[in-house]
Amino acid sequence: MNNFDNQHYITTPIYYVNDRPHIGHAYTTIVADVLARYWRAQLGADNVFFLTGTDEHGAKIERAAEALKMSPREFADFISAKYQQTWKTLKLSPDYFIRTTDPEHEKIVAELVTKLRDKGDIYKGEYLGRYCVACEEYKSPSDLLDGQKCAIHKKVTEVVKEEVYFFKLSKYQKRLLNVIAKGQLKIFPESRENEIVKFIESGLQDVAISRSNVSWGIKLPWDSKHTLYVWVDALLNYFTAPTMLKKDFFPPDEQLIGKDILRFHAVIWPALLLALGLPLPRQLLVHGFFTVDGEKMSKTLGNVIDPAQVSKKWGNDALRYYLLRDLTFGEDGDFSWQRFEQRYESELSNALGNLVQRVLAMIGRYSIKIDKKNIETLASVGVKIESYDFSGALDLVWDEVARANTKIEKEKPWLLSKAGKTAELSKLLNGLHSSIGSIGNALAPLLPETSKKILSQLDSLTPTPIFPRIDTE
Ligand code: MSP
Repeated sequence: MNNFDNQHYITTPIYYVNDRPHIGHAYTTIVADVLARYWRAQLGADNVFFLTGTDEHGAKIERAAEALKMSPREFADFISAKYQQTWKTLKLSPDYFIRTTDPEHEKIVAELVTKLRDKGDIYKGEYLGRYCVACEEYKSPSDLLDGQKCAIHKKVTEVVKEEVYFFKLSKYQKRLLNVIAKGQLKIFPESRENEIVKFIESGLQDVAISRSNVSWGIKLPWDSKHTLYVWVDALLNYFTAPTMLKKDFFPPDEQLIGKDILRFHAVIWPALLLALGLPLPRQLLVHGFFTVDGEKMSKTLGNVIDPAQVSKKWGNDALRYYLLRDLTFGEDGDFSWQRFEQRYESELSNALGNLVQRVLAMIGRYSIKIDKKNIETLASVGVKIESYDFSGALDLVWDEVARANTKIEKEKPWLLSKAGKTAELSKLLNGLHSSIGSIGNALAPLLPETSKKILSQLDSLTPTPIFPRIDTE
């Protein structure tokens, strides 16, 4: 936790507005939402700050807008609204949605870069080398395939020769290694930390932090021919958002990122903070990439999954359940529609849904008096969430679901009723009611809508299907 033990600040990357939100973006934001809900329950809602938003400047956006004959501003407004709408549809709970075109953000960023310059950490020079617009990244020869292609996008990079300002990143090499070694900046999983340490040890080059050939960006206050490099503008959002809201949450406790943007977050971001004399984030949480049915998600293949469509057909919690249980956080994975449907039917609809319906129906049928104070908690689920093992957290909840189902099969309440064993029957159904209550409580951060439905049905004792059958044709 940060300097205040009773506060928690969680961030997602801010998403590029060159394209609509897809399931990869939803994954990062859903994981952040689970953590935010978990910490709100521990610390109170006012003590948690969950930030997301959109990254709207730079060459990539400028060009995407141009292709559609829109101004970058109009285009950014349009796509940013799509992100906001999608997170609303998915009932995610960010406390703030930042846009880098917000004038308040731009103003604070301009002040921060001026501070870096006044400190002597910025100097003028010329950049001659390769640039990948899709990554918005200067590429060194070792990053390239065949000397010219981006290893991530497999597209030929552009040759850039322009006057730029550099940030003295190399100056921070030792201090970065030191803060990582001392655990002042943690990177989860450990394999990613090792990867970054190796990268830093191999030597850091100063980084260009302005472009003179890109006009869609924040102008450098001392030289308006230059716009600020989009990654510096974007990374600083984690500081500008709480600052402009006058919320005392900085630095972040947990920053969710995908593995593709680790270097920016584990090298440039902390170096900027060290240079500015600001505190470092406590932990970066790095997740893998996933394919869809074994293929890379791509517009050409037509397999890009729109999270809002999944939500419309299957519901938000079915999507959360699948992503959290089937993928191991921190590793690469595959989104499989077949497994999605199987898990929906057997684990959500049958194992959990039927359990709740059956138990409530029997309580009604046999007129059982329920002691509602009897609900336990599954503390071990919290331990799993705090160690980012979301799949393990759901395993524990479903162990409890399986135990309750087995208990019904073994103790056969219908036979107890037939034999007139009312005391035993009441004890059994009270026990099941309480187990389902603990399941409902444990699910609150993971599957919030389901948790609410379960708890309200346990209270009203009226069963209604939680995961109805869905026609998959
Ligand atoms: N704008 C930058 C982030 C700036 S943060 C200061 C950016 N945006 S992005 O929209 O391209 O990606 C945002 C996140 O989505 C990244 O964490 C990335 O890893 C994640 N994903 C994009 N495609 C993904 C998959 N196929 N699978 C899992 N996550 C993926 O980068």
